[in-house]
Amino acid sequence: TGDPLVLGIETSCDETGVALVRGDTLLFDAVASSMDEHARYGGIIPEVASRAHLEAMVPTIRRALGEADVDLSEVDAIAVTAGPGLVGPLTIGASAAKALSIGLGKPLYGVNHVIGHAAVNQLVDGPFPGRAMALVVSGGHSTLMLVDDVATDVTELGSTLDDAAGEAFDKVGRLLGLPYPGGPHIDRLAREGDPEAIRFPRGLTAAKDQAKHAYDFSFSGLKTAVARWVEQCVDDGREVPVADVAASFAAAVADVLTAKTIAACRAHDVDTLVIGGGFSANSQLRDMAAARCAEAGIDLRIPPLRYCTDNGAMIAALGSAVVRAGVAPSDLDIPVDSSMP
Ligand code: KG4
Ligand code: ZN
Repeated sequence: TGDPLVLGIETSCDETGVALVRGDTLLFDAVASSMDEHARYGGIIPEVASRAHLEAMVPTIRRALGEADVDLSEVDAIAVTAGPGLVGPLTIGASAAKALSIGLGKPLYGVNHVIGHAAVNQLVDGPFPGRAMALVVSGGHSTLMLVDDVATDVTELGSTLDDAAGEAFDKVGRLLGLPYPGGPHIDRLAREGDPEAIRFPRGLTAAKDQAKHAYDFSFSGLKTAVARWVEQCVDDGREVPVADVAASFAAAVADVLTAKTIAACRAHDVDTLVIGGGFSANSQLRDMAAARCAEAGIDLRIPPLRYCTDNGAMIAALGSAVVRAGVAPSDLDIPVDSSMP
């Protein structure tokens, strides 16, 4: 086709992602992760992640090109995550992208990581309709966006005021003595427990909160409520019903995320919902979103898990949309922005 061939680079956290996209077609997506090195610290160590990106960058670029059977000279544009994320890791990716841009004499496009989590869906389910809603949930973000054009017109409707959904799961995981990251472990335990055993607070549902933060999320109060409940259990000398705690906590998170998202769809007259980010692996969220979207007549799109977690395809997909929209390339002195809105 006449569409440009875009090479995308993602390094905002612990995954080094490189992918090649033409139009809405993914040629290849290569990912290297340094998560194994972080797991023993119980969290991402930015310096360790930066060094891992530096080492993995060229091999990952070579692997993507080789698997896609593409020569570097065929690449028409370079897209890179400019933020949000960890400054050191972002800098490694941006430096690589700038070097490629200069070396190849091809334009550079700095793009937004969170929007990339929505854009990647187009590689799987095809172009968005005129207007779509996107919920991006991961260890680092919980953001609700109205997407009129993924390249040029995205409006943030809400985000978390404190912990991201995955982060809250990881903190509750630590509290329950589960290995890091705790999210998948809680998911598994929750499937064996009773989601109605304990009624944990939903957060930001009081009328005054609603007015100010209609589509914002807050999970730190919920996390504290779980901690108190578990402490009380221990104080009383009772055994902690871990599966019930996990199920009730997971139900509270899924309830808040889906209720607000569907309310936003209704308020903005949107009937397509895209969910992305590593937390979209969560079974409680998937089940509740599927049920509530079916009830509300909303077309729910969740890509396969490998496109939900951080990867290069999301950045190449967004880059491809941005290039095709005729957006001007970035200057070669663009900074990275760890807290990019
Ligand atoms: O997108 P991701 O891989 O990395 C970030 O950009 O943050 O998301 C990972 C986050 C972690 O907090 C992890 O515990 C959580 O998503 N997570 C889950 C599940 N799978 C991953 N949380 C709950 N249930 C899951 N099945
Ligand atoms: Zn992410």
